[in-house]
This record gives sequence, structure tokens and C-alpha cells, in this order.
Amino acid sequence: MNWDEPAAATPDADPEGPAGAAGRLVDAAAGAAGDDDQAIEAALRPKDLGEFVGQERVREQLDLVLRAARQRGATADHVLLSGAPGLGKTTLSMIIAAEMGAPIRITSGPAIQHAGDLAAILSSLAEGEVLFLDEIHRMSRPAEEMLYMAMEDFRVDVIVGKGPGATAIPLELPPFTLVGATTRAGLLPPPLRDRFGFTGHMEFYAPAELERVIHRSARLLDVEIEPDGAGEIAGRSRGTPRIANRLLRRVRDYAQVKADGLITAEVAAQALDVYEVDGRGLDRLDRAVLTALLKLFGGGPVGLSTLAVAVGEERETVEEVAEPFLVREGLLARTPRGRVATPAAWTHLGLLPPRQDAGGPGRPGQSGLFDG
Ligand SMILES: Nc1ncnc2c1ncn2[C@@H]1O[C@H](COP(=O)(O)OP(=O)(O)O)[C@@H](O)[C@H]1O
Ligand SMILES: [Mg+2]
Repeated sequence: MNWDEPAAATPDADPEGPAGAAGRLVDAAAGAAGDDDQAIEAALRPKDLGEFVGQERVREQLDLVLRAARQRGATADHVLLSGAPGLGKTTLSMIIAAEMGAPIRITSGPAIQHAGDLAAILSSLAEGEVLFLDEIHRMSRPAEEMLYMAMEDFRVDVIVGKGPGATAIPLELPPFTLVGATTRAGLLPPPLRDRFGFTGHMEFYAPAELERVIHRSARLLDVEIEPDGAGEIAGRSRGTPRIANRLLRRVRDYAQVKADGLITAEVAAQALDVYEVDGRGLDRLDRAVLTALLKLFGGGPVGLSTLAVAVGEERETVEEVAEPFLVREGLLARTPRGRVATPAAWTHLGLLPPRQDAGGPGRPGQSGLFDG
């Protein structure tokens, strides 16, 4: 088993995600924390490149691509955006259309299961239109092959009839810009990847960038926030604007009910403690996994199944929901022998690691190893 790609099954997983993940405040997926999530998110979307915070490199490169196309009076090259959920891929696709003064059509890989679905969309595009294909790695094989030709030659072959009598009728398409988004560029077949003129890799945001996102959103939501308040929220947002915006809204609720509406660092910290999002962005589930690993298994190595039973969750929940962030934060490592806590995990939970030579759970009387 390859521990680095354990979530390879995720693309086809239940869209609700594994059990135990529902309604998580720190879930980076769209709409994860309730119905109003997506509507508010749309309202907070930057409308042009200038408003788009961070991602300096992608922004600069994309700016050049779009400017050059505009100067030539041409349709922009196809663009692939890759990066984790919530980093701004959908937002950037809309910005591309806006910057080109072009309309945008939005669809997704899972929505296109037959080549015919794609043919219908492609043949109805207007000249210069932006076609946004979200989760492009989840498109079906036949649709993918049709897309190759459409991207390269602006042409599709529509198959009419079945069996030996079937004929391919070529159909010319107007030039268009495909913007593909994927959380897993590695899953794209090379022939598809190669047909994009530009690929932008979106990175997690630095705390200072998230602070700017938070200040901007606070202005739009008409919320009063102090710089330290934004800093406190940014530090708990897992490098992800979507999470930052979501936490901001929960902190706003708290500030409104308990603190006259002004978000200070103290108010933000209190609010996020209520919602069980800790100083580093770990939530209840993340902490439960880490706590079990440290307190019950001396920091590991321990098998995934055992760890899952210990926290009373499904294997998938632990592996796909909790672990990716713990690994990213350098708190947990997946090894061939099992899950292992890093020294940073002990520090984060305020515990002392067991002594190397003792081989047991450590000195008696050390802080909190056996409490709770
Ligand atoms: N660079 C950014 N600057 C400001 N807000 C951002 C930025 N990137 C993302 N956001 C906000 O985060 C939310 C999620 O962005 P979205 O584009 O839907 O992410 P993705 O499609 O990558 O999952 C949106 O509300 C958007 O306004
Ligand atoms: Mg999106």
C-alpha cells in the first residue's frame, strides 16, 4: 500500500464525505458547514485579479496570459488550476472570464458522464466563452477523449447511430477557453494535462494573506474586526480562505451575542474555543485522533484500524478527514509500520513524550499522560 496516496478513492467517494465529517467548520470543501455556506461564499468572491489575495506567482503568470490574449484580440489559452479545496480555483475561473469580458459556463467532471453530455455543452458555447470544468479528473474516459480534440482543434466528432452503421459527423466549435480545476493534478492523464497552455498551482495561504482575506470579508459583511482578531482567526484557518471566511462568520455570531460585535483577538479565541477549533486549526476530531495516538499508544506506531476503533470513528473518517491535515502540519506521520506522532504533536497537546530508554509511557507524574 502506498501511504502517500491513501485517499486515492476519494474522488468517487460519497459527496457527503465519510461519516463523522458532516458539518465540520474546518472542512475545506464547499458547502460543508451548512446551506448558507455557498451563497455567502459567492458574495465574498473577489471579482478581479487585483482583489484576489495572495498566490502571487499564479496571479502574475495568469495576468500575463490574459493580457497577451486581450492584446491579440484572441481567446485565452486553456488554463488548468490545481490545488486543495477552498484555495480559490472556482473564484479564479470566474475572474478569468471577467478579465476577458467573456461569459462563463460552469460544469464539473462528475456531471459529464457521457461524451454526449460534453458534446451538448461544447456545441452550445459562444465564441470566446469560458468553460469551467470543475473536478476535471472525475470526467469519464470517452468524454475526456472528446475533450482532447475540442481543446486542440476546436472540433468534435458527434457519433450518430450505433454499431457498424455508426458515422462520425465532425462539428466545428467556436474558439473557447477551457478552465479545468482539480485537487489532484497527478490524476490527470498526461495527454489532457499537456493540452493546457497554462497550469497554475495554488498553494496554501500564509497567515498574513489570510488576514487580508479576513479583513476584506469583514468589510463586505460589515463586521468590525481588530488586526489581532483577524490574526487569531487566520492562524486557525489551515491556510485556506474558505475556512477563514467560515470561521469569521462564526466568530461574528459570538462577538454579536457576547461582545458588542467587535472582534478582538480575545473574542476570536474565545469564540473558536467554543467551536472547538484550536490555536492551530485542529478540531475535535483531529485532537481526538492525536490524543489517542499519544495517550493510548505512546505515540505509535499503531495501525489505522486500531486508531480508528480507539476514537470510535470509521477508518475512512480518520484516514481521509483527520489525517491529511495532521500530516501536513507535521503532527503525524504515516509509516509502513503504522501511524506515528511527531515531537510537535506532543508539544501541541502539552504532553511529554515517553523516554526513549524506558520504552513505556514515560515517567510517572508527568503532565497529563493518564488523565481524561
Ligand atoms: N485569493 C483569495 N482572495 C480572497 N478570497 C478568496 C481567495 N481565494 C478564495 N477565496 C474565498 O474562499 C472561498 C472559496 O474559494 P473557491 O474559489 O470556491 O475555492 P475552490 O474552488 O478552490 O474550492 C470563496 O468564498 C472565495 O471568496
Ligand atoms: Mg471550487
